[in-house]
Amino acid sequence: MRIWTVANQKGGVGKTTTAVALGGILAQQGKRVLLLDLDPHGSLTSYFKYDPDSIRGSVYDLFMHEGKVPADLPRTLIRDTSHPNLKLLPASTAQATLERKMVGVEGMGLIISKSLAHLWDDFDYAFLDNTPVLGVLLINALAACQHILIPVQTEFLALKGLERMLHTLGMVMKSQKNPLSYTVIPTMFDRRTQASVQTFRTLRQQYGDVVWRYAIPVDTKFRDASRAGVIPSVYDAATHGVRGYEKLLHDLLEANVGFNPPPQAQAGGAA
Ligand SMILES: Nc1ncnc2c1ncn2[C@@H]1O[C@H](COP(=O)(O)OP(=O)(O)OP(=O)(O)O)[C@@H](O)[C@H]1O
Ligand SMILES: [Mg+2]
Repeated sequence: MRIWTVANQKGGVGKTTTAVALGGILAQQGKRVLLLDLDPHGSLTSYFKYDPDSIRGSVYDLFMHEGKVPADLPRTLIRDTSHPNLKLLPASTAQATLERKMVGVEGMGLIISKSLAHLWDDFDYAFLDNTPVLGVLLINALAACQHILIPVQTEFLALKGLERMLHTLGMVMKSQKNPLSYTVIPTMFDRRTQASVQTFRTLRQQYGDVVWRYAIPVDTKFRDASRAGVIPSVYDAATHGVRGYEKLLHDLLEANVGFNPPPQAQAGGAA
């Protein structure tokens, strides 16, 4: 299994859209894909018409076993989506209480890692969608993944959010003593606006090749697909936005990002 996390400490930059779009394209190609909704707001969960306020069985349940994860538990929490190859481990709004509940629980930073180890042979890809808030859920996501996708909206305030995210990655790398690989993805790019063009240029100048060489264009079809509960590449395969995500996926796979299993999974990963 390849595990990619989508993260940025800034809200509304295209994290959930990136997870659904890339996961959806891979599912259409015949890959078995799992989307995990770590965000207590549950946008990904709502995308597929489940209600994070009332859902039974969610990411929250993984945290309720004193830092261990029973081997058969993750599988029981998985739901169907609008595409047969794409599955969802949904979010519950109760996840917002985890910050408080998990204080001092041993192993609480590796819950998602352990959960994915139990699903290792069931899926080819897992995408972790995150809240912008730095806390136990985001730390779990960073510990569990092999590669991080950081969507950055191409507008003037974007760079501050990116700096904060990179600072967090630096701290996590120090504590894990493990390098984390990441790709910055410029999103919602509108070539007619100065803000988009300049931000894209600045990103490439300041951060170099960790910034993807293209950008995901602004495309209203993403919102329409989300309203319909359908993955973007099924809703309309020909739109600029979907083409952008196809190109991104192609580049990520060609660069062979996130190929090595994380250490917990290699070790067998159980409880
Ligand atoms: N390339 C795009 N073009 C136009 N609209 C987009 C694009 N990407 C995402 N959107 C829309 O922008 C809004 C925010 O996107 P999304 O929910 O993916 O961001 P997010 O980073 O997950 O937000 P949050 O931090 O709230 O979880 C959504 O309505 C989505 O449909
Ligand atoms: Mg989101």
